[in-house]
Amino acid sequence: MYRDPVESFEPLHSPLAATRTLRVGMIGIGTVGSGTFRVLARNQAEIAARAGRAIELVIVAARNLERAAGIVGDSVALTADAMQVATHPDVDVVVEVAGGTGPALDWVLAAIAHGKHVVTANKALLAVHGARIFAAAREQGVVVAYEGAVAVSIPIVKALREGLAANRIEWVAGIINGTTNFILSKMRDEGLDFAAALAQAQALGYAEADPTFDIEGIDAAHKLTLLAANAFGMPLRFADAQVEGITALQGLDVACAEQLGHRIKLLGVARRQAAGVELRVQPALVPSGHLMAHVNGSMNAVMVKSDAAGLTMYYGAGAGSEQTASAVIADLVDVARLDGVAAAQHVPHLGVHAHATKALAVLPRAAVHTSHYLRVPVHAVGQIQAVTACLAEQKVPVRQVALAAERPGIGPQVLVLTGPVVQGTLDLAVHALQARPEAAGPVVTLRVEALEG
Ligand code: HSE
Repeated sequence: MYRDPVESFEPLHSPLAATRTLRVGMIGIGTVGSGTFRVLARNQAEIAARAGRAIELVIVAARNLERAAGIVGDSVALTADAMQVATHPDVDVVVEVAGGTGPALDWVLAAIAHGKHVVTANKALLAVHGARIFAAAREQGVVVAYEGAVAVSIPIVKALREGLAANRIEWVAGIINGTTNFILSKMRDEGLDFAAALAQAQALGYAEADPTFDIEGIDAAHKLTLLAANAFGMPLRFADAQVEGITALQGLDVACAEQLGHRIKLLGVARRQAAGVELRVQPALVPSGHLMAHVNGSMNAVMVKSDAAGLTMYYGAGAGSEQTASAVIADLVDVARLDGVAAAQHVPHLGVHAHATKALAVLPRAAVHTSHYLRVPVHAVGQIQAVTACLAEQKVPVRQVALAAERPGIGPQVLVLTGPVVQGTLDLAVHALQARPEAAGPVVTLRVEALEG
């Protein structure tokens, strides 16, 4: 129940803090906010038992107050002014689930400046402005928690920062955008074209307000940026990520990949190399027998390779109202336990490891080292040798070569799986192939990820 600020306010970080109700102000009551309200109310007793005290939603900021009242009834105060929630003296923690990188930045910074912890599911905000937000939080000794920002139902942030705390992480790779995974699954399973599959994903509520963020790989890159910073202790380097979405992906390549025993997934990959970190999102071939190839529909999965635990994998819903609420409330439980504990004693939510920042620059695209799929349109089936000879000349190792199954209206296509090679070498080889008289159209290349330990 909302109480008068003066009557119930106790300073944060006092020894008493851990024994009284954690008072939550929420900005936004759309899909995620309404789910958070429902789950908090439904599982009140369990949540309080795990948090060691009650967690109570006391005020909500909403654009449409009538609609918001329809969701929360009269149990929670409502305001149209988000800044009022961010700075409210009766709020211990601000949940920001409005989204966007505009006003949300001001609200989050204001909340931190007022000594409030922040829980957010806003991956774009943190990927783009995280350096400033986390610096402000460190200064104020408050927590900025963001489990709901990455692969919502999967506690991957907690797994990296706590469960794998003993490990040196070597790589993190995942399907971290539900919309594109849904689209790719529909294209493969039902032969739907891209536009029809996207329309279905939007109707089901998976897509971002601007679906460009999903289909161009930007949303996945936001999440990957957070995972890499968490895994490697490097700064948030969203601007340096190599990002490629699925809009240029052709149904023909989905089918040809299948012929070669692979499936195409939009993968986010952050891999540590001696010279730096690969930070990249792209459609990539994964062997059909690999668990990652069987992550379908809007589901997400993340694999982590670390030195002590080895290979671990995490799977769950990547979008959804209560699925995101689950992560938001888990963060609230953490905050309930941490409130009043000196900041230096928290496991950092985003540790920038002093030793790592210099070495862990993002590698340029040309230095990325993977295997590749090539589809080379040729004039005649007998020209397969010319393709392999050209690749040998360019020092690209060939692991598998085949002719694509015949399709009406499509000429012969040579399919190649290469061994591992740096992107710079592959680019030169593709340039050479394209210049050959046998090339009957644009050469298509995609990365191949073995995702092995
Ligand atoms: N649009 C996002 C997705 C929602 O499809 O994964 C969850 O971040």
